[in-house]
Amino acid sequence: MTKACAILLSGGGSNMVKLVESMAEAGHPARPVLVMSNDPDAGGLAKARALGVATDAVNHRPFGKDRPAFEAELTKRLEAAGAELICLAGFMRVLTEGFVRHWEGRMLNIHPSLLPKYRGLHTHARALEAGDDEAGCTVHEVTPALDEGPILGQARVPILSGDTPDAIAARVLAQEHRLYPACLRRFAAGEREPIWLS
Ligand code: GRF
Repeated sequence: MTKACAILLSGGGSNMVKLVESMAEAGHPARPVLVMSNDPDAGGLAKARALGVATDAVNHRPFGKDRPAFEAELTKRLEAAGAELICLAGFMRVLTEGFVRHWEGRMLNIHPSLLPKYRGLHTHARALEAGDDEAGCTVHEVTPALDEGPILGQARVPILSGDTPDAIAARVLAQEHRLYPACLRRFAAGEREPIWLS
């Protein structure tokens, strides 16, 4: 039986589209059961519906500072959908230790830097400021500390002269679209050795 995979997003969902498309490949060990957002207007929700995947939204705003209550609602709906794996794909809410522990070993994230470099936001601007000659993205298991957790794969891109953060982001995003499906497929099959794409 394939693993039931839920995807959490806050934005346009281009990574979600690639993940859902990849799960339609023959012999894939996972299937998409739910795409959920903290933003009812997230563009990714309409894209998921167009792909025939169930969607849901839990607006975080009415919960104010009560993150555990927001996350309890997420978990309730994820479990109602039978989710066995979660892919965070541009999900822009910091998660509490309680939520992460509940899903630990079953939750992946993609981050637009070569971790452990540049945890958090504005990764490409920081790489430019540091004078780095490459950037990239990382898929990792989610553990309580932000953007830490065992690395499942990385893909690298060059930083070119005259680059802007937006130009790097576009180059990296194209690699995210290769890396995340590759890592999900391996993870769902029980493989934990990282993969390195160039
Ligand atoms: C990606 O850059 C991802 O690395 C970051 O958020 C962005 C999501 O893009 N965490 P999309 O919504 O998948 O297009």
